[in-house]
Amino acid sequence: MKIVILTGAGVSAESGLGTFRDKDGLWTQYDLSDVATPEGFERDPVKVHDFYNARRANAAQADPNAAHFALARLAERHSGEVVLITQNVDGLHELAGQEAIHMHGALSRAKCAVCDAKWDAPLRMTATDPCPSCSKPATRPDIVWFGEFPEYMDEIEAHLISADLFVAIGTSGQVYPAAGFVAKAARAGAATLEINLEPSDVSGLFDDHRHGSASEIVPIWVDEVLGPPDSS
Ligand code: APR
Repeated sequence: MKIVILTGAGVSAESGLGTFRDKDGLWTQYDLSDVATPEGFERDPVKVHDFYNARRANAAQADPNAAHFALARLAERHSGEVVLITQNVDGLHELAGQEAIHMHGALSRAKCAVCDAKWDAPLRMTATDPCPSCSKPATRPDIVWFGEFPEYMDEIEAHLISADLFVAIGTSGQVYPAAGFVAKAARAGAATLEINLEPSDVSGLFDDHRHGSASEIVPIWVDEVLGPPDSS
């Protein structure tokens, strides 16, 4: 059974990293048009770098939680294919030992706004840092901003239409194209499960729902999929 999983900020909430749209979420503290759009970066690159430097420092202090570790265990022990797509830009899935398709980029990566070269980001970045490839002072976070096209979409679409089970964990279902993944997987015949603190904007499109905190619910669900320890 091929399992395709999509995670959002809710899977990292219990690692101490904020979500975006919950009470006190990032988008209640910052105007996303200032810090998560190309226009905002054009207007004030210092503000954008300050925002991502703070998030990078936070993420560097965070540890994976039981949900991240359970998903890594599933990938390791499930007899079928497990594909993890994340909207998150923290590296907690990788820290838990699991590869993830980062459709919104990663805090750990930098890129050049002129020549598009990419490299490992230092903890603190400034817009005047020279690009290692073209030397232009045009460094930006390698994050997909609103109005930009998410990465790896061809690969992601191929996984969605070949999934037997699609599971969304910790996402509000408010941002496309990720919010449309459940419909695409379901249309191609996948069973669908939503694991979230509360119903998301696309809850009605899922066959099954488990509402509660990811660090509690995900390990239970993974144990059910893997069966009792001696059976997998
Ligand atoms: N366990 C499970 N779910 C949780 C938990 C938790 N401990 N805490 C919060 N949640 C759920 C919330 O109920 C909410 O539905 O996680 C979801 C987080 O939603 P958002 O804050 O909108 O985050 P996300 O869905 O990842 O946002 C998608 O929007 O701003 C962009 O690029 C950004 O990748 C992000 C995208």
